[in-house]
Amino acid sequence: MANYWLTQHLDTRYGNQSGEVALCNLAYGTRVLADEESFKRLAPYKTPRPLGDDPWLERALDANLLVSEQPHDPPNCVARLVAALQSYSGAQGSPLELLDAAEQRYRQQSMPRPFAGPLEKAGPLLRRPERLVDFAFDHTRAFLTHDQQPEQGLDLDLVEIFSHRPAMKLRYEQQYCTPHTTQRRVAKMREALKPGARVLVLGDDDLVSLALVQASSDYQVDVLELDPDLVAFLKEKGGERLTVLEHNLRHGVPDSMRAAYDLVTTDPPYAANGMRFFLQCAADSLKPGPDSRLFLSTFPGLIENPEKLWTDLQELGLHIERRHDHFSRYIYNNGYRVEHLAALRGLGSPLHPTQELLGFPFLYAHFFECSLQR
Ligand SMILES: C[S@@+](CC[C@H](N)C(=O)[O-])C[C@H]1O[C@@H](n2cnc3c(N)ncnc32)[C@H](O)[C@@H]1O
Repeated sequence: MANYWLTQHLDTRYGNQSGEVALCNLAYGTRVLADEESFKRLAPYKTPRPLGDDPWLERALDANLLVSEQPHDPPNCVARLVAALQSYSGAQGSPLELLDAAEQRYRQQSMPRPFAGPLEKAGPLLRRPERLVDFAFDHTRAFLTHDQQPEQGLDLDLVEIFSHRPAMKLRYEQQYCTPHTTQRRVAKMREALKPGARVLVLGDDDLVSLALVQASSDYQVDVLELDPDLVAFLKEKGGERLTVLEHNLRHGVPDSMRAAYDLVTTDPPYAANGMRFFLQCAADSLKPGPDSRLFLSTFPGLIENPEKLWTDLQELGLHIERRHDHFSRYIYNNGYRVEHLAALRGLGSPLHPTQELLGFPFLYAHFFECSLQR
């Protein structure tokens, strides 16, 4: 008899009626409506076990909330991608082989032309559209390589906490990562943390602080965050174990928090200016010394000024010790997808396979572990 467990791509979205939540498999784009009871029904599947005799669990299985070792159909986006890559490249083979063949042809024949109009009318994407092509192939390859095999061990309690978080606000440049990403970040950070360590989270829409205090009582965790709704939520859920201050990092870190932390973590804005002041705050709040660590989540290929990231890190004395590529996953929402497709189409790239290349479900970011060399 087959065993089933929770997909690592589980997340929640609000349904139309109040009190309702949709539980989703983000990689498949499938969902079922759920209530408080649903989390209880799913809880046993934190570890693999046979499917119980329960029609709701059957629906959860149909929506890919539960997965197994058994062969399964790929998400629709992969089926569409494979067909488009075959027809474009004329090649046969695995999805990754088709992607390689199509990339070679695309770079020879289908590259977008740089924007020819007045520069003030073009954002960074139109001025350097080759970055969008790099991104499309890189993220498609990441999805095919890392996100098709079911993994075990998702923390369902974290998913439930995530289901209550306040709405995402673009004015604070928020972009939520998946619950599994937060869980993995915390696991990675704990490898570097000693009992009694002080941790600072700079901006926490990814709820890293909650996952950290939930995982262990060994650390003292503080958060600086601008969004008042998020501050209230973190205070409510984190209780006494978490210190959360509403604070604008543009003003730097408060004096009492300078040179005070063993580990700082942040997922800074992608605009060049925001990136710089978040990194400055990180460097200022770390204890001087070789053991202090910054865990930084970002994707250089999508930030406004990738070259400046490397010089900023150097100027601030932040040295990359390790990097974990394509570590963080965020929903690639349709707003961005349409913007990216329109930019590439407008500059001469063909509809197919560009559209299918932009069909992957996640935006990725790397996770950099940096020491402070000053
Ligand atoms: C900057 S956002 C994440 C951005 C994301 N990596 C992106 O650009 O796609 C991370 C967190 O920082 C918070 N934040 C944004 N601006 C801030 C500021 N000036 N001071 C403090 N927190 C801020 C947001 O509310 C959010 O919780």
